[in-house]
Amino acid sequence: MENLKLSGVDTQMPVVALVQFAPLLGNIEANISRIGLLLNKVKADVVVLPELASSGYAFSDRNEAFQCAETVYDSVYIRFLTSRAADGNYFIVSGFNERDGDRLFNTAILVGPSGFIGKYRKMHLFWNEADLFEPGDTGLPVFEIAGIKLGMLVCFDWMFPEVWRILALKGVDLVAHPSNLVLPFCQQAVAVHALCNRFYVATANRIGSERDLHFTGGSVLVSPLGETLVKGPLEDPFVGNQAIDLTFSRNKNITPRNTLKESRRPECYTFLTSEKKN
Ligand code: ACM
Repeated sequence: MENLKLSGVDTQMPVVALVQFAPLLGNIEANISRIGLLLNKVKADVVVLPELASSGYAFSDRNEAFQCAETVYDSVYIRFLTSRAADGNYFIVSGFNERDGDRLFNTAILVGPSGFIGKYRKMHLFWNEADLFEPGDTGLPVFEIAGIKLGMLVCFDWMFPEVWRILALKGVDLVAHPSNLVLPFCQQAVAVHALCNRFYVATANRIGSERDLHFTGGSVLVSPLGETLVKGPLEDPFVGNQAIDLTFSRNKNITPRNTLKESRRPECYTFLTSEKKN
């Protein structure tokens, strides 16, 4: 069998940066200045920031969340990210408190040197988020940037294997996963999602506390072989830059007689498509 260990860093490989910090609740300008300082340490092609990095997380009610939500068409935060992406010639995935008319979404945005590129709206809302946000309605879009096929999930989506597998079947190399994790499980679980789907996962988590929530830090970049390539601290701000070898995310061979795609048995999985009827 082929040697499955990841090789050393090659400068031709795209570089992914994880950025971990504590947003200030309700204060977009303060968050821009916190993120700006950390972006000075980025040397990457794709940067991943935490969930709701523009606004913080623990809103007391929908009105408070609304006060610091922005549309993707007119956003101080997206203008800031665009300007930094242009200066650094990289792409940024960030959590974003998105307003669309009078609806709010917990969104991951993708921004590049020329501006806003696309978005994914969180499908699986955690706990009281359902009082603030609409469930995501974008499906699972895939973007091609810096030679990488990129998908996005947001925080609690990690619990649902279906979304990871759909992104794998769509051929993604990297799942950017902005997070505000309060439970300690995801940082280990994403290694299994990465291994079972043979792609890279970049979970950029936040730190600090808001109201009665404490966030668990420990941002991770894991490889298609389930290896932890980068691990952030539990309580401190952090920037980690790491090259990724796309030959590993594009090789879906498991043994000489098994591949991730061909060894699946979708005809045995019809429960998934018929479960609503039962
Ligand atoms: C979470 O989805 N922010 C736990």
